[in-house]
Amino acid sequence: MDEPDWTSGIDQSQASVARVYDYLLGGAHNFSADRDVARTLEAIEPQARTIAAANRAFLARATRYLAAEAGVRQFIDIGSGIPTQGNVHEIVQRVDPEARVVYVDHDPVAVAHSTSILAENQHADVVQADVTDPGSILEHPTVQKMIDFEEPVGLLLVAVLHFVPDDRDPGAILAALTAPLSAGSHLVVSHGTHREHTGEAVRQVYRRAVAGGQATLRTADQIRDLFAGFDLLQPGLVHGPLWRPDSPADVPENPERFWFLAGLGRKQ
Ligand SMILES: C[S@@+](CC[C@H](N)C(=O)[O-])C[C@H]1O[C@@H](n2cnc3c(N)ncnc32)[C@H](O)[C@@H]1O
Repeated sequence: MDEPDWTSGIDQSQASVARVYDYLLGGAHNFSADRDVARTLEAIEPQARTIAAANRAFLARATRYLAAEAGVRQFIDIGSGIPTQGNVHEIVQRVDPEARVVYVDHDPVAVAHSTSILAENQHADVVQADVTDPGSILEHPTVQKMIDFEEPVGLLLVAVLHFVPDDRDPGAILAALTAPLSAGSHLVVSHGTHREHTGEAVRQVYRRAVAGGQATLRTADQIRDLFAGFDLLQPGLVHGPLWRPDSPADVPENPERFWFLAGLGRKQ
């Protein structure tokens, strides 16, 4: 499929969170400023690509559980990124071709690329919005059209909330986003957590060189608090590779080196 020019109007001198992540995942929607940042990250954290892939794999396992086992048929994926492979709509529409997905990201390249790959998918769409403004997401006409708030929703906030600083009150953002969800809805979160000195060095690179890259790493207790009103399902909040691995062989020797925590909760 021909893709529209996703580079137009983009400041290519400024790295973005979405494009750095795209590069780490082996994608092609990034510029040299993004690759420079990614290489700096890899110099600090040689496992950066493996960690990004493990986060993406957690997203896939959690989404597959929601569609195939929990019976969820509508999803809002906030901070959805630049789709590479294993996108939420691909996973859930394999279970039910009519399962609905609304992607949300504030990054214009992520939105342009999503728009392009979803052009012929009647049950998936993308919205450009900022997670720090929950009203702009919940009241967006596309969300209103595609999501039935009387039915359970899968709300995904995967590797995005660490880009919400404390002064934007992530707890209040979660409360606003989850208030309209019916009982039996699910919340999926992965979130960067502290890891000795490496975490601080990575945080500094993002803060200095990446637009909107003011990262806040949080403790397990702080991340658990984001699940207020939800029961964390087994195995609770754990390092990403430990969340229901497909096979024991997929669990690395030191999962705590994968410095993000992941969990899935069910609304009471
Ligand atoms: C590390 S990527 C994660 C992508 C995807 N959720 C995943 O886990 O594979 C983080 C994404 O969050 C988006 N993001 C960061 N801050 C955001 C904000 N304030 N509002 C909406 N999206 C945001 C970035 O543009 C990027 O696409």
